Amino acid sequence: MTVTTIVAPTYEEMSRVAADIIAGAVREKPSCVLGLATGTTPIGLYAELVRMHRDEGLSFADVTTFNLDEYVGLEGTHPQSYRWFMRHHLFDHVDIDLARTHTPDVACPDEAEASRAYEKAIEDAGGVDLQLLGIGQNGHIGFNEPADDFPKATHTVTLTPSTREANSRLFASLDEVPRQARTMGIGTIMRARRILLVANGSAKAAIVRDALEGPVTPRVPASILQFHPDVTVVCDAEAGVLLS
Ligand code: GLP
Repeated sequence: MTVTTIVAPTYEEMSRVAADIIAGAVREKPSCVLGLATGTTPIGLYAELVRMHRDEGLSFADVTTFNLDEYVGLEGTHPQSYRWFMRHHLFDHVDIDLARTHTPDVACPDEAEASRAYEKAIEDAGGVDLQLLGIGQNGHIGFNEPADDFPKATHTVTLTPSTREANSRLFASLDEVPRQARTMGIGTIMRARRILLVANGSAKAAIVRDALEGPVTPRVPASILQFHPDVTVVCDAEAGVLLS
């Protein structure tokens, strides 16, 4: 097991530590490939990266990004689309070249083709150097929901009722939450050279413990990270409270 765990006292500190790790990867290799995540957890670390760009000259000019997932059925201009999220929280505030930022193509009706294209684009870029992950309350990473096996590649998923319910807080009503998403597979995520998982709040405490200290099972998709050679988990005190 090669998971390094950092329990920060607060959300702000968790965000700073995680942003420092990403900034370090960018400084070390300005043309690095970052895998990025959405959700409320990384908002603070993106704000810190924007601050580092503004105050410390951290440059994303040569960085390429691939987001984990995207809702099917939302245009990139929809405020709850992950494309929009990334622009709002990071891309529009730093010097990144938007042409080098990617999300799974949810407009393409041919699922197999969209999946192949995303995997190939990642491969052509040289693979992901550092993949940022949040974690769902049911252990999902990206939108890889609990299942009987670990999906290998980018694919379309039907979201579980609990995930739709959890994410409905960001929509006007549960009805508006998309039923499907396209996500990197567990195989895609595991091919990243390095993984950084962030989690905060007491609602994540049990799943963080199960993912890091429980059995490796597709019923807790994030548990597969125990088999990755280079994972850093940064959580706040509330999310880390059950870790031994
Ligand atoms: C969403 C995203 C995940 C994210 C998770 C947790 O469904 N697809 O990538 O990690 O939920 O979200 P939050 O950080 O808001 O708890």
